[in-house]
Amino acid sequence: MSLQEILEFRRSVRYFDEAKELDTEKVKHCIELATLAPNSSNMQLWEFYHITDPEMMKKISHACLDQKATETAKQIVVFVTRRDLHRKRSKTFLEFEKENIARNSPPEKQEKRWKNQRAYYTYLMPFIYSRFFGLLGIFRKILSVFVSLFRPMVTSISESDMRVVVHKTCGLAAQTFMIAMAEIGYDTCPLEGFDSRRVKKLLKLPCSAEINMIIPCGIRKGTRGIRGERFRVPFEEVYRII
Ligand SMILES: Cc1cc2nc3c(=O)[nH]c(=O)nc-3n(C[C@H](O)[C@H](O)[C@H](O)COP(=O)(O)O)c2cc1C
Repeated sequence: MSLQEILEFRRSVRYFDEAKELDTEKVKHCIELATLAPNSSNMQLWEFYHITDPEMMKKISHACLDQKATETAKQIVVFVTRRDLHRKRSKTFLEFEKENIARNSPPEKQEKRWKNQRAYYTYLMPFIYSRFFGLLGIFRKILSVFVSLFRPMVTSISESDMRVVVHKTCGLAAQTFMIAMAEIGYDTCPLEGFDSRRVKKLLKLPCSAEINMIIPCGIRKGTRGIRGERFRVPFEEVYRII
């Protein structure tokens, strides 16, 4: 399939064929491809829980309000945001980046590039991702709004802004996953209709983790489970060329 055909093939499927199994390794590979999604500052503050155990599937399905898509799914993937892992991810990235710069940057630029990257991941990332009951976020917001009076400045850095950042990033991974699945003829249905607290408890996630999306997977059974023709508002209504 061409990319256009894949995008047209992907539909939110709410009823999967009970007779058709999925190859776990193939689904795992699609999750791996999802990690190729662009992500904010390459921090990769995400985790993917690939649920194949029938007992756990039932429990997750119940936490997803017993939707038909999860009830009939053959496997389920839970996309999780992990703001709390920012120090660990910064450290891992810097370890990689040191060698990466040595291998790939022009020699005369290496020192400056390393200095910038080290400052970015050692000071800036912990500064914008740290949390303290919302207070650090308020401080960052005031500081950035003040600076923006004099020069362009990112001002969306409160604690709730950073929450949006990790969810945006995770949403891109979820979409990449669904496209990868569609390419091999596997169907999905992105869900936000779930009880977050229950899902977190089932997956033994820490309080700072958040569920971004839950994606039941399977193979469509004819047109059952696809709600008729696809509807999109007229393109002219949402497209502006400037
Ligand atoms: C973030 C998000 C949450 C969604 N939550 C649900 C859900 O809880 N239950 C459901 O049946 N569909 C859910 N959907 C699927 C949408 O209803 C679907 O994508 C939309 O109707 C467009 O249809 P299409 O995906 O077939 O193009 C969700 C989609 C997204 C992107």
